[in-house]
Amino acid sequence: MKKTMAVLLCAAMLMTGCGSGSSSDKSKADKNDKSDSAAAEDSKEEFVFPSKTADYPSLKDVYADDFYVGSAVAASQVVDPDYVNLIKEQFNSMTCENEMKPDALLDKDTTLSDIEKYRECPAVKFDKCIDQLEFAKANGIKMRGHTLIWYSQTPEWLFYKDYDTSGELADRELMLKRMENYIKTVFEWADSEYPGLFYAWDVVNEAAADGQSAKRDCLWLQTIGDDYIEKAFEYARKYQPEGVKLYYNDYNAFNFTKQMVIIDFLKPVAEAGNIDGVGMQSHIGTWCDPETYATAVRRYNKELGVEISITELDISKDNTDEWEENQGEYSQRFMEKILELKEEGIPIPSFTIWGLTDGVSWKKQEMPLFFSLSLKAKPAFFGLIAAKAPELAEGQ
Ligand code: GLA
Repeated sequence: MKKTMAVLLCAAMLMTGCGSGSSSDKSKADKNDKSDSAAAEDSKEEFVFPSKTADYPSLKDVYADDFYVGSAVAASQVVDPDYVNLIKEQFNSMTCENEMKPDALLDKDTTLSDIEKYRECPAVKFDKCIDQLEFAKANGIKMRGHTLIWYSQTPEWLFYKDYDTSGELADRELMLKRMENYIKTVFEWADSEYPGLFYAWDVVNEAAADGQSAKRDCLWLQTIGDDYIEKAFEYARKYQPEGVKLYYNDYNAFNFTKQMVIIDFLKPVAEAGNIDGVGMQSHIGTWCDPETYATAVRRYNKELGVEISITELDISKDNTDEWEENQGEYSQRFMEKILELKEEGIPIPSFTIWGLTDGVSWKKQEMPLFFSLSLKAKPAFFGLIAAKAPELAEGQ
């Protein structure tokens, strides 16, 4: 029995490059062109992938009393045995990386098939995210919904009167109807098909401009006007499924100018009682001072009376030879700061990292994640563990 297991493990290591070789690391980087595929495909039937991460401490277990620990996951990853193991072992929260964004949900063909019927209520279909939601449900993993109203990854046709980008833009009244109906449709579908699965939704994503004290110029702003964020949260509150928290989510939300703009436009939303949380995306690097970050978290909590979640963490490498150690040391300091904020009484119900491995990160050249291309735990992973349970990270 033991011998068979050893043979299986060796075979697995050869196939996946676990613990060594850069060539199979490279192939792992592109899961579409799954590594060593011919041999792997041939032997897949009798081959059971052993878990390659089970020997590592589990983030979700270490932080069980603190917050949900999540990852952004792509649809292809929930049917890939390697990633499946990693997700199940490490995380109890998931965010669809792309599959619940407006461009994934809005159904152009159906909408255009009957413009009058769909004029105020664009058609929506959910086929792209089903695999992820089924996987989450089957494995007791909770979901962050991402994202409803965003300037990006939202089709331009949505903003035109006849859904025709060469025609006229829709007016405020029509866009308010479309916004309300879109939010209603998504929430009602999620609640009826997956009751209790979602615990938070990003209602508005990235509405603050970069480098200036202003809202970002975008088609939502142009068509609806200055209060589009307030309206989005008003509708979200109206249709929110039970148990779901409503979030504003942004990157560089620790930046002082951006912080002020965000607080400014969220104040009326908070006063109306329509927001529950601010999501700090946290696409950062070792340059980001944890204390500056903490100051922003405290300010959002105090000024808006909301909870805070870390929603998209990745930590880009620096340009030194010691980048992996530096990243590990930083990830520990960063997590220690988050725990300190919790100690102070700031509600931080979830901590999500943006992707599973360096190989599938949107910033893969910057190696910003916690597992390597070959699913090996990096110092950055042990940094997260060490902040809470140093004994489990010893010698790593
Ligand atoms: C933003 C979005 C995410 C994702 C990342 C890049 O942070 O909120 O959905 O698109 O950019 O992958």
